[in-house]
Amino acid sequence: MTCLLLLTLFVFITPIYTVFTYNATDDMALLFETTEYCDSQCRFNASEVSLDTINLWPVDCTDVCAILKFTSSSNNIPYEKLKSTFLNLKAIIGVFRVENTTMTNLSFFGNLTFMYNINKNVLSISNNPKLTDVSVLFTMGNSHLNYPVQFMNNPKLDVSPLCVRRNFFDFNRLYIVNNMKDCGCTVTIINYANVVNFKNCTSIFGPIEFSNATDPSKLSALSNVRNITGPISIKNTNFQNLSFFSKVERMKGDDSAVNLDIHNNPNMTRLGLDSLLLLHSGDAWFRVNIQGVHPDFCLTIEEMQVFTTFNTKYVKLEANYCNITTRKDGQKTCVFESMSALADDCVHIMGNVAVSTGDEEYTRKLSIVTNIYGSLSITNTTLKNLEFLGNLTNVAVLNDTSPAILLDSNSDLSDIFLLSMRFPYTPGPNAVVVQNNDANIFLSPYQCENYQNSVGAYVLYNGKGCDWVLSDGDYTEIDTGGAPGISEKTATRNCGVYWILICALLFFVNI
Ligand SMILES: *[C@@H]1O[C@H](CO)[C@@H](O)[C@H](O)[C@H]1NC(C)=O
Ligand SMILES: *[C@@H]1O[C@H](CO)[C@@H](O)[C@H](O)[C@H]1NC(C)=O
Ligand SMILES: *[C@@H]1O[C@H](CO)[C@@H](O)[C@H](O)[C@H]1NC(C)=O
Ligand SMILES: *[C@@H]1O[C@H](CO)[C@@H](O)[C@H](O)[C@H]1NC(C)=O
Ligand SMILES: *[C@@H]1O[C@H](CO)[C@@H](O)[C@H](O)[C@H]1NC(C)=O
Ligand SMILES: *[C@@H]1O[C@H](CO)[C@@H](O)[C@H](O)[C@H]1NC(C)=O
Ligand SMILES: *[C@@H]1O[C@H](CO)[C@@H](O)[C@H](O)[C@H]1NC(C)=O
Ligand SMILES: *[C@@H]1O[C@H](CO)[C@@H](O)[C@H](O)[C@H]1NC(C)=O
Ligand SMILES: *[C@@H]1O[C@H](CO)[C@@H](O)[C@H](O)[C@H]1NC(C)=O
Ligand SMILES: *[C@@H]1O[C@H](CO)[C@@H](O)[C@H](O)[C@H]1NC(C)=O
Ligand SMILES: *[C@@H]1O[C@H](CO)[C@@H](O)[C@H](O)[C@H]1NC(C)=O
Ligand SMILES: *[C@@H]1O[C@H](CO)[C@@H](O)[C@H](O)[C@H]1NC(C)=O
Repeated sequence: MTCLLLLTLFVFITPIYTVFTYNATDDMALLFETTEYCDSQCRFNASEVSLDTINLWPVDCTDVCAILKFTSSSNNIPYEKLKSTFLNLKAIIGVFRVENTTMTNLSFFGNLTFMYNINKNVLSISNNPKLTDVSVLFTMGNSHLNYPVQFMNNPKLDVSPLCVRRNFFDFNRLYIVNNMKDCGCTVTIINYANVVNFKNCTSIFGPIEFSNATDPSKLSALSNVRNITGPISIKNTNFQNLSFFSKVERMKGDDSAVNLDIHNNPNMTRLGLDSLLLLHSGDAWFRVNIQGVHPDFCLTIEEMQVFTTFNTKYVKLEANYCNITTRKDGQKTCVFESMSALADDCVHIMGNVAVSTGDEEYTRKLSIVTNIYGSLSITNTTLKNLEFLGNLTNVAVLNDTSPAILLDSNSDLSDIFLLSMRFPYTPGPNAVVVQNNDANIFLSPYQCENYQNSVGAYVLYNGKGCDWVLSDGDYTEIDTGGAPGISEKTATRNCGVYWILICALLFFVNI
């Protein structure tokens, strides 16, 4: 009875990563509609390459529009014919597919170096029992990133170079199974019964979902995993931490998903991703959600440092800092009491750092500080610039809605440049608040917006957005009413002709 109950409460990983399907006819019709890319002289009309169709190939073109498909009908084409046909081909506009062939290599693509997969069609290399060499793919450039890539059932093909080469680094829609060597383990479903099959996996591809799981010890089979490509969701479990992923170093997300979604895990007090070094989500924010965890849940400063180093965005971040000041790298961590009491050699500071009247003489103590776990306020000082914070890369507030960085009432402060600062964070509405300082900090909205871009966060300047730096009527007020984060604010920004570029950059930062 207990056994049955346990079996029903299994962990499962949703089978989202399945074979990509496509309709070649539709793909071709859509491609040929893009007349700006598809020169009618340089397109290949046939649905597959065969002895009957190969002479339709526009041999004189270097850039050819095609959904170029090799199938079993291509098997009886002599290699020399393939080679002479594709001799001049440098770029494919479209995609190519190799399915059900007896080819051993694709070296007849002697000059192919680029693919403009403008409609992000599926690239498929499947069911080729003799294929051993597709090196053209590992070196080819791509204009459009992250199209679906499928390699399956090629028993003599080592696909692993694809996953380490730069040209596919931003791709995460990969379905790679049943080749001689895959990239790692492609996850379909993991449950308590089959988790043991993943014991030798050092990298996992695919969205991972743990739900309603009761026994994390069974997941120790995942403890060799170092790289994860695809979003992870952990919901409705009683896990206390994710220590079964304690060796995970890299997480590559999906630009459309919450990449680390921890939701309704009431017993979770720690993350436990002790080896995490790198988060990556193409050009987009790496989205994290930590919600509905144990009230004592805490993040170590090392974990938070990883989050803040990459452009992480939070749906919710219900966490405090753990009261731990020793670091694996041995860097000195100080707990802030006052500027006068602060040691000279702190690299990390926990607590709310307050620099105020009379503290000017101590500011050199902050010159090697890289991270503040808490807020930074500089108020009522005679400081002129913030050069002493040149090594400060991040300030992140948890469990409080105060600004991450507050620069208030420093009448001589005219230069607020922070050399290394990126993505200061607070759960509150304003990451950076600048008010009542020297009137010449920003001489134009351009300078203010430039500053926002350089620090990667919205700046509230004298109570308003950057648009108000010059109130000459060119800028309409942005809607800040109750907006929880910077994206809403910049989304309503009024982009004047001169500021379109800056706005575009801001949107990029705030996506
Ligand atoms: C592909 O799409 C075309 C037109 O949309 C349709 O006629 C054809 O049946 C489809 N082929 C498959 C295999 O679904
Ligand atoms: C491709 O097909 C279209 C329509 O069937 C035809 O008009 C065009 O001439 C063909 N192009 C080539 C290069 O064969
Ligand atoms: C390849 O073979 C499989 C199974 O034999 C078949 O389902 C599929 O349609 C074939 N694909 C092509 C492009 O011929
Ligand atoms: C590349 O193109 C040049 C000129 O079109 C040709 O001479 C050469 O043989 C091609 N190289 C390969 C490897 O096909
Ligand atoms: C993890 O990914 C990195 C970067 O792509 C690669 O260098 C490394 O070999 C991978 N590690 C494993 C265990 O696959
Ligand atoms: C893991 O590797 C060991 C040693 O190579 C092998 O004996 C075992 O079968 C593998 N386990 C799985 C699940 O692949
Ligand atoms: C997991 O538990 C939730 C809440 O009890 C329930 O709504 C959901 O259907 C369960 N999911 C599965 C797959 O059992
Ligand atoms: C989870 O937390 C609840 C309440 O705090 C507790 O009763 C239960 O024993 C915990 N379960 C596990 C597996 O730790
Ligand atoms: C943090 O831990 C230290 C000892 O390690 C203790 O003295 C201090 O009171 C703790 N602080 C909090 C806020 O719990
Ligand atoms: C700054 O000075 C003003 C006026 O002297 C005072 O009201 C305010 O509390 C001071 N702020 C801080 C943070 O010391
Ligand atoms: C940053 O720290 C290094 C020592 O780690 C120091 O030499 C350098 O002067 C600091 N830079 C600034 C701008 O303070
Ligand atoms: C902040 O964390 C402390 C415990 O560290 C907790 O007592 C307090 O309620 C939290 N405050 C907020 C606003 O969540």
